[in-house]
Amino acid sequence: MRRMIAGNWKMNMLSEGALQLAGALRRGADRLGCELLVCPPATVLSAVAHVLLGSACQTGAQDCHAEAAGAHTGDLAAPMLRDAGATHVILGHSERRAQHGETDAMVHAKVEAAVRAGLVPIVCVGETLAEREGGRAESVVAGQLAGSLPHGFAGLVAYEPVWAIGTGRTPTQADIAAMHAAIRHRVGAAIRILYGGSVKPENAAAILALPEVGGALVGGASLDAASFLAIAAACPV
Ligand code: PGA
Repeated sequence: MRRMIAGNWKMNMLSEGALQLAGALRRGADRLGCELLVCPPATVLSAVAHVLLGSACQTGAQDCHAEAAGAHTGDLAAPMLRDAGATHVILGHSERRAQHGETDAMVHAKVEAAVRAGLVPIVCVGETLAEREGGRAESVVAGQLAGSLPHGFAGLVAYEPVWAIGTGRTPTQADIAAMHAAIRHRVGAAIRILYGGSVKPENAAAILALPEVGGALVGGASLDAASFLAIAAACPV
């Protein structure tokens, strides 16, 4: 399966920086052996998608509402994101779960809304440090998968241990491989499973070579074109 390297810009980038970064990715995206995606904030999504149009890098969103339209001040519906040029949407990121109280049921509804709008959902799961240290990492992730993924789910899953996000810490290779195997067992053979959490050019090759790792979801290192492209170049072909 072709690997995907997805960049999550989170709440970063004004127009000028976003356009510069998108331009650099457009120039660097050719001849990579993997699929490339960037998920900018919604304010620059349309501009970034425009720069990347026809390139080897696709554009995605970071969240969507579960309804297609309505009285939801400040929210963004999946058809709007599609209309702005998104092909994918990240859902259930741990920052959404922790900072906005998103439950598995809410993520489930958003996944269905995304699919209805023609977006490919990337559903994030992952345990906290306390859950890992308590020996519950796999059961927590299994519960998130069961609650968040609708029947017949055909998007991507991103395994992102909460304690590895933005911290410079990563699980051991054995722990990543074990969790990806456990997720594979639950989602079936066709789903790509990304690893996320402090992926950098220095550790990308080792992580991306692990069995069942179908790519990476990259936060901090996706804000720099050279780092992001170096991670993409580390994909085994
Ligand atoms: P990080 O973030 O690469 O900065 O750890 C990953 C993510 O939150 O998707």
